[in-house]
Amino acid sequence: MWKKALTLLMLVLLFALAACGSDDDTSGETETDNETENTEEENTENEGEEASEGSGGKVEIFSWWTGAGEEDGLLALIDLFQEKHPDIEVENAAVSGGAGTNAKAVLAARMQGNDPPSTFQVHGGAELNESWVAADMMEPLNDFYEEYDLTDKFPEELIDLVSKDGNIYSVPVNIHRGNVMFYNKAVFEEHNIEEPTTLDEFVQVLDELQAAGVTPLALGDKEAWTATQIFENLLLATLGSDDYKALWAGEVGFDDERVREAAEYFQQILGYVNEDHASRNWQDASQLVGEGEAAMTNMGDWAKGYFSNDLDLETNEDFGYFPFPGTTEDFMVITDTFGLPKGVENPDAVKEFLNVLGSKEGQDTFNPLKGSIPARVDADPSKYDEYGTDTMEDFQSANLAPSLAHGSAAAEGFVTKANQEVNIFVTQQNIDQFIQKLQQAAGEL
Ligand code: GAL
Repeated sequence: MWKKALTLLMLVLLFALAACGSDDDTSGETETDNETENTEEENTENEGEEASEGSGGKVEIFSWWTGAGEEDGLLALIDLFQEKHPDIEVENAAVSGGAGTNAKAVLAARMQGNDPPSTFQVHGGAELNESWVAADMMEPLNDFYEEYDLTDKFPEELIDLVSKDGNIYSVPVNIHRGNVMFYNKAVFEEHNIEEPTTLDEFVQVLDELQAAGVTPLALGDKEAWTATQIFENLLLATLGSDDYKALWAGEVGFDDERVREAAEYFQQILGYVNEDHASRNWQDASQLVGEGEAAMTNMGDWAKGYFSNDLDLETNEDFGYFPFPGTTEDFMVITDTFGLPKGVENPDAVKEFLNVLGSKEGQDTFNPLKGSIPARVDADPSKYDEYGTDTMEDFQSANLAPSLAHGSAAAEGFVTKANQEVNIFVTQQNIDQFIQKLQQAAGEL
């Protein structure tokens, strides 16, 4: 009992600490989307099960999907849900800030205050299992998976990420890829640049672009996770996917030579980023690439949603993409999932939402807008553009690796410290100190 209370208190402190590190608004102001309030008239039959007649009530959906590049998929999913369940009121309680920088702290405070949202965005892996499941705050969803025939609809690796001790605790809505480089096609063409596949080719290309007077790499690390993402991709490149996973399992140490190598590449690469990186967020950095003011950026493929929906750019015409150099055969997995916290008011209505989110139709509505691929194995590829179908193909054959920056690889305590140390490294670039601090923090893995 008190172990759980202690876990919870630790979580609140950690999330609050993480949010304090960001310059963004941490007021916890939520965005209620009035348009999504229950107004649709039609109740369309839900796939494979009867349309709910009148479980009624309200569902509060908590996420960090607000604004450019983030919210289109969610709003479309909410519309679909309202079509199917006009009797259930929806409150879109999103808190802005990439990677949940602010939302996670607001969520932790609410969970501790016994005021959980009806359902919330949480990454599969440690973020779900070591936090909310460990604190005994989530309902197991095994019966729900059975009842809605979801058990064999997701890849086993994803089910593993949302399970602990034989119970399933959330429903994945998507799979994002974190080891992607997006680039401006015209800039690459103008400077005769080929897509680099190894880290040394990458550095060479960065150098050529810099010599040609182009900003080679766009970075917006106002929120530190974007830089952590580069570092985790470098770790994946130098360690390979097996040892990258062994690092998070505590079987490979941070004193490993290949961790140092990753830090050395990191330092080198930081020499090629835009000068104002510390005052930009991920959208502002991606915009530099979209508008041809920088050649490329490493970003999860929510940037694809941003390029297509917000900047109106064409896939493989205006922007291209390739795996982060050195990780061509790998796939850094980021999965957004939603579960059922204990003690919510309308669990049946929440399950209806989880069912729409986990349905083929729900996933094929959400993901083409979000830039991610569907988590379900039976989704319809014709709903996706070439980026989506390429990524679906890669997912099948690649070595899968869990993201640190997006909560899957390690518990929140380590993620918070890693973000802080990355942030310090970006300014001070002291490799020995960086590794030493990571090693200390790894004691908590
Ligand atoms: C990730 C999340 C994505 C996207 C991104 C930027 O953590 O999984 O869906 O929202 O942050 O905020």
